[in-house]
Amino acid sequence: MSFVTVRDVWQRYGDRSIIERVNLDVAEGEFVSIVGASGCGKSTFLRLLLADERPTRGEIRIDGGEPAREPGRERGVVFQRYSVFRHMTVRDNIVAAESFARFPGRFFGPALRAARARADDTLARIGLAHVAGQYPATLSGGMQQRLAIGQALTARPRVLLLDEPFGALDTGTRLAMHDFLTELRAETNMTVFMVTHDLEEGFKLGDRVLVFDKVRWDPHSPEAFGATITYDFDARDGGIPFQRQLERYPGLAAQAG
Ligand SMILES: Nc1ncnc2c1ncn2[C@@H]1O[C@H](COP(=O)(O)OP(=O)(O)O)[C@@H](O)[C@H]1O
Ligand SMILES: [Mg+2]
Repeated sequence: MSFVTVRDVWQRYGDRSIIERVNLDVAEGEFVSIVGASGCGKSTFLRLLLADERPTRGEIRIDGGEPAREPGRERGVVFQRYSVFRHMTVRDNIVAAESFARFPGRFFGPALRAARARADDTLARIGLAHVAGQYPATLSGGMQQRLAIGQALTARPRVLLLDEPFGALDTGTRLAMHDFLTELRAETNMTVFMVTHDLEEGFKLGDRVLVFDKVRWDPHSPEAFGATITYDFDARDGGIPFQRQLERYPGLAAQAG
């Protein structure tokens, strides 16, 4: 059963074609990694899934309907890129993310205390417990990034969109975030689209790895044609291991990045 359905989607800006003829069926709970050369339209595709923009042509449906414009519990989508709230402590940033996504109002009294306890659990899992009472301005860029990812994951949307979320983190932190994301997925059955520059990360976390690339190219008019999905790899356990994919498709490593 297709949960996210993309049918013949094209996106143009003026006379520039960005993506063209994109077709895709994703089941609920699948994790889809997306790689492709810089500027080929990966972020544009996520914005279409987010309903931030409507495609020039074609149709996107999530659970049978048009993608919701407002992030919410049911057909909600959360973009990693949204920034943290500067006037709230780290702990209250997590509380706010949960309350916006799942409840109409704010937490008070015992509900607030329970939400703060859940937030502390989340902060421990992403290595920010020791700064729970601080404000974001006192954190390093990498820690603020982790907080933003923690907010996105706390909201537990049915569809999670991640645009190069771990790129700026050091290796140890990145691996810890991978574990946190994997655990949350097991708990929630979230459907995930993640753009990454790191092909190995794409294969590690994804059930599928999509490659965006141009199949048509006019040297006199480089922007006449857009990118489409040129590969759709099975990356689940039992799929072709990452290294053998590279041997079989030598151009693949060059595509990512
Ligand atoms: N709103 C927009 N208006 C015009 N051009 C845009 C807009 N958004 C993106 N682009 C262009 O579309 C191309 C693809 O951008 P993007 O989706 O960000 O690529 P990627 O994420 O794969 O690096 C880029 O050339 C970018 O300049
Ligand atoms: Mg991008």
